[in-house]
Amino acid sequence: MILLTGGTGYIGSHIAVELLQAGNEVAILDDLSNSDKSVIERIQHIAQRNVIFYHGDVRDSSLLASIFQDHHIESVIHCAGLKAVGHSVKDPLAYYDVNVYGSICLCSAMQKAGVKRLLFSSSATVYGIEAEPPYVETMARGVSSSPYGTSKGMVEKLLEDLFASDPQWSVGILRYFNPIGAHPSGYIGELPQGTPNNLMPYISQVAAGVLPELLIYGDDYATDDGTCVRDYLHVVDLAIGHRVALTVLEEPGVHRYNLGTGSGISVKQMVDAFVASIGVEVPYRYAPRREGDLAAFWASASKAERDLGWQPGKTLEDMMVDTWRWQQFSNKAQQSS
Ligand code: NAD
Ligand code: UD1
Repeated sequence: MILLTGGTGYIGSHIAVELLQAGNEVAILDDLSNSDKSVIERIQHIAQRNVIFYHGDVRDSSLLASIFQDHHIESVIHCAGLKAVGHSVKDPLAYYDVNVYGSICLCSAMQKAGVKRLLFSSSATVYGIEAEPPYVETMARGVSSSPYGTSKGMVEKLLEDLFASDPQWSVGILRYFNPIGAHPSGYIGELPQGTPNNLMPYISQVAAGVLPELLIYGDDYATDDGTCVRDYLHVVDLAIGHRVALTVLEEPGVHRYNLGTGSGISVKQMVDAFVASIGVEVPYRYAPRREGDLAAFWASASKAERDLGWQPGKTLEDMMVDTWRWQQFSNKAQQSS
């Protein structure tokens, strides 16, 4: 059985479906602080398999101990955490508490239970503000632009130290680039609370008429069209990346992988791609740069391809179409509630 923390969240729910469909038993631990219990039914509906659900906090050591006692857990995938970069600047203690202390509680419980295989949800942000793209796994971690990013770098270091102390540990550090899109079924996707901060949910809410217009933050960056460049990947490809990364845990060590497509695309190109794929207008206006944004970064994706045989299979059009299907599903769900 695989224990998946944060499994009712955006990325975790897609990982749960992928694992169940591949025949794994899955237990989810989530405190539902940024997700909804109905996601469990939707995961089960898509996969046509049951999942075990624990409603609880990853910092609850006695709950963790009982989960490891009640099940034969082979590996843990740790997605639970706080992820809003701007919020982390305003409330750093919450980010160090949930992201760092939560990881310490999880690893301690694993160590006590003798479970030493872990995949960790890290982020491209750990490469830091001065790194030059493409980001390669051999680059050192840099200075982060936010407490969120620092918390991810701290957990990476903690995991490296844990392996140094006990070489039986197998740790997979997965550095996500910009996950977007939703499951093609339309049943699971990203549930931003309030006004979204991230580009893709913002674009789809403008297209749906929920928000009046998109502000494109900055048109004077040193990029081809002056807008920021990122490496957007489909969340289903990201979920597949976790399934295949479980295989490297058979080998003790610290394994670092970028999960990105390996190419960058600008904010303006994303808006144009959405309009071309969906045929709905997205009113936009250029606004000043957003504080903390980097001009351009994307992954070197060759290590994951070489070692894991992982390559994103979804197109940019899939990302747009699936985002839009999910937007319509969420609109309907909101109207009927
Ligand atoms: P999400 O907020 O949708 O999912 C996180 C889940 O963790 C939520 O269901 C939330 O309820 C749960 N959670 C939060 N605190 C918890 C706690 N103390 N105990 C138990 N559960 C808790 O976010 P996501 O986009 O699915 O991100 C998953 C992971 O991937 C996070 O660790 C995030 O930092 C990382 N990540 C996300 C992105 C991205 O762009 N979405 C990029 C890089 C890394
Ligand atoms: C950020 C974080 C990353 C985190 C991710 C998901 C940084 C450096 N990166 O990525 O760690 O994992 O969020 O939470 O902080 N944009 C607009 N208008 C909008 C929204 C976004 O123009 O309304 C632009 C941004 O300026 C950026 C691009 O779209 O250039 C992508 O933004 P976003 O989706 O927020 O992701 P990142 O900032 O790359």
